[in-house]
Amino acid sequence: MVPLPVATLLVLAALTAADPLHIPITRRSPARPFDYKAAADFIRYRYGYSTAPSPKPKLQRRGSSLSLPFVNQDGDSSYFGTVNIGTPPNQTFNVILDTGSSDLWVAASTCQSCGSTQLFQPSQSTTFVQTSTHEIPISYGSGQVAGTVCTETVSMGNFSVQQQGFLLVDQTSSGLLVGSVSGIMGLAFGAISSTQAVPFWQNLASANQLATQEMAFWLTRFRDDRHASEEEPGGSFTLGGTNSTLFQGEIEFIDLKGPGPLSFWLLSVSEVTVQGKTVKVATGNAALAAIDTGTTLIGGPTADVEAIWAAVPGSSKIQEMPGYFEFPCSTQVQISMAFGGQLWPINPNDMNLGQGTTGTMCVGGIFDLTMGSDIDPNSGNPSWVVGDTFLKNVYSVYRSNPPSSGSVGFAQLSDFAGSSGAPQAGVKVGGALSTATVSAAFSQPLFFPPKCSACSSRFGSPSGSSSSEPIADTTYAMTICATDIST
Ligand SMILES: *[C@@H]1O[C@H](CO)[C@@H](O)[C@H](O)[C@H]1NC(C)=O
Ligand SMILES: *[C@@H]1O[C@H](CO)[C@@H](O)[C@H](O)[C@H]1NC(C)=O
Ligand SMILES: *[C@@H]1O[C@H](CO)[C@@H](O)[C@H](O)[C@H]1NC(C)=O
Repeated sequence: MVPLPVATLLVLAALTAADPLHIPITRRSPARPFDYKAAADFIRYRYGYSTAPSPKPKLQRRGSSLSLPFVNQDGDSSYFGTVNIGTPPNQTFNVILDTGSSDLWVAASTCQSCGSTQLFQPSQSTTFVQTSTHEIPISYGSGQVAGTVCTETVSMGNFSVQQQGFLLVDQTSSGLLVGSVSGIMGLAFGAISSTQAVPFWQNLASANQLATQEMAFWLTRFRDDRHASEEEPGGSFTLGGTNSTLFQGEIEFIDLKGPGPLSFWLLSVSEVTVQGKTVKVATGNAALAAIDTGTTLIGGPTADVEAIWAAVPGSSKIQEMPGYFEFPCSTQVQISMAFGGQLWPINPNDMNLGQGTTGTMCVGGIFDLTMGSDIDPNSGNPSWVVGDTFLKNVYSVYRSNPPSSGSVGFAQLSDFAGSSGAPQAGVKVGGALSTATVSAAFSQPLFFPPKCSACSSRFGSPSGSSSSEPIADTTYAMTICATDIST
């Protein structure tokens, strides 16, 4: 195997100023059934909790139909944005923005099983280099992709990295890609990268290209909207700063936890309340939680998840869906979580995944992640995965401070961003918190308006405002897109 280049060159390539990236917005058909088992398997596998050794998914080289959408395995929703790969930078791809993994991959034009999405064509780029001939797999519990490690010029807005390592995928198990999504942009740390390539955002950060070493997400909610169309805007992703229109009050930053090198964005759950009452949960290293935009639901350790549902009257385990619980649909389940500081409330709509085993029972958004596993809870493996079910309720900020540690920050959403419940005081833990107001720390980045008409009818067309705003050269904002198939 040819080693990856040690020094990755960075440039800020000036894309044509008058040519903003119009991001196709995709929201999958609401009619698609939610595959609970696949969703749980996906998350369990990612965090090392695969229990029963499931048969290796069969890789398919020849054409297959889109039967099991990737987003089914990812849960019921995913959020994606765009990257440009190659020179000239005219090949644009929708990639899931995923703080729970560290590899960049996109589907190649040679991939027969990748569906009808945009595929990367190496022959149309002058900067493409294949650095390995080995097929490397990346597994997702109920699916797998495989490809070769390559380097290319990769850009998001006008952040650009030359010789960015990525996996050019030429095989996927059936249906791993859905709709217009062509791959994943991993936004966690390089230590957990399957390709061993330095993640795109870390290349930008270590070259001091980011105004502040932060990434921030606002994720929209359509779960409670029966009239949401197939295409909806997913919110906003800011690279190199935060966007003060999207949050109010202070951002509560919490230092990353966990032993060893930085891997996932790990915090430690300090408190959980259900219907206003504190539930006894494990804390400290036994409560490590990966903050993961690429996962839809919340998964937790067996005893804690059981204690949470025990606090909801009338709830029970769902035998047919191991790890899941259901509760009377008439109950508004109000759960809040703290990670060392304030308690952040989760909208009851996010906790309700829809009908369970009977018409009056509804499936809950927190499931048993560690079920049947004998992994030592103090091993450093996260026992919680905190996905979009939680993250839709806050403005979340991922801050790195190399070479020391980083932090994750949460803030209350602004009225513009749909607001969110006000945080309440939680049980204070140690001196780990560093709260800061960062709202004035950046200038105006680019705003890319969503393309579809459905989006502007709901959110108003923001396109008129973008041209007159000053544009920061070290911050990049994009509209991200929601894929939601469950409701
Ligand atoms: C980034 O792009 C914007 C507009 O496209 C431009 O005004 C700005 O100068 C660019 N920054 C750099 C560093 O190229
Ligand atoms: C990108 O540019 C190259 C070279 O100009 C051209 O051959 C190719 O067709 C373009 N591809 C797309 C997708 O526009
Ligand atoms: C902040 O986000 C809003 C909504 O997405 C957008 O209209 C605005 O341009 C963004 N501002 C900056 C500075 O990125």
